[in-house]
Amino acid sequence: MKAINKLWILVLLLTVPAMAFASEAGVHLDKAPVDLKNTASLQRGAILFASRCLACHSASYMRYNRLLDIGMTEGQIKKDLELPEDSKLSSTMQAVMDANSAKLAFGIAPPDLSVIARSRSADWLYTYMRTFYVDNNRSSGWNNTTFPDVGMPFVLADLQGKQVLRVENKKGHEIKKLVLESLGSMCTAGYSMCTAGYDATIADLTNYLVFMSDPSKMVRYDLGYIVLGFLFVLLVLVYALKKEVWKDIR
Ligand code: HEC
Repeated sequence: MKAINKLWILVLLLTVPAMAFASEAGVHLDKAPVDLKNTASLQRGAILFASRCLACHSASYMRYNRLLDIGMTEGQIKKDLELPEDSKLSSTMQAVMDANSAKLAFGIAPPDLSVIARSRSADWLYTYMRTFYVDNNRSSGWNNTTFPDVGMPFVLADLQGKQVLRVENKKGHEIKKLVLESLGSMCTAGYSMCTAGYDATIADLTNYLVFMSDPSKMVRYDLGYIVLGFLFVLLVLVYALKKEVWKDIR
């Protein structure tokens, strides 16, 4: 009897993480094509982040000179990220707008984005930046299916265009769909190219946010290979030594 009770407790404990996931499974998340080795993508993401997000959000744990790790030169960082005159490469990324004015304007202060990829996940960010839609009931004029009633206005509407939410009723099921109503500047050749271009831009941005949440990850990976290589060489040497030492004993 006791053993069975224990078994039940074990089964229950094992299903707790699954239940926690299930409670969050409300929104469908698209897979973010993260590639931390793609420095060109990381650089594009960094430039977009500086020009479009730093107006409201800070990244207080991120220093500009960290961008040297993704192959940017000091000159590029200063020019492409439009570094303010008085800030140094060693300064952290600070929002242009101060938190109090932002709170007044949006009702909530924009959170620091340094480690947002770790708290929200890359897939969440990639989806969130692509699911804003026009909603005239909101003071900002925007809403988001991934983050309902979000306080952030959609600052990339000029790139993606404007989406609207269509609700269809199919056999008693409500199906919500986002439809692009007016095209943004990313539309080079028709509707499908439009989404592809914007998706690629958001992939770059997400890639950068993931990099920013753990900038030394790739350095750690490289170090891992070096350590493994060293251990392998050591193994060969130690094996040769063992052979040498035991040669005369047998
Ligand atoms: C005009 C100001 C403004 C700009 C520019 C802006 N945001 Fe925001 N953002 C906000 C506000 C305000 C919130 C808080 C929304 C809330 O909690 O309802 C927010 C929330 C977010 C969140 C959700 C954070 C969380 O987990 O609660 C993410 C992610 C985000 N912004 C990313 C970005 C990115 C990426 C950019 C650049 C492309 C950007 N934002 C540009 C104002 C802004």
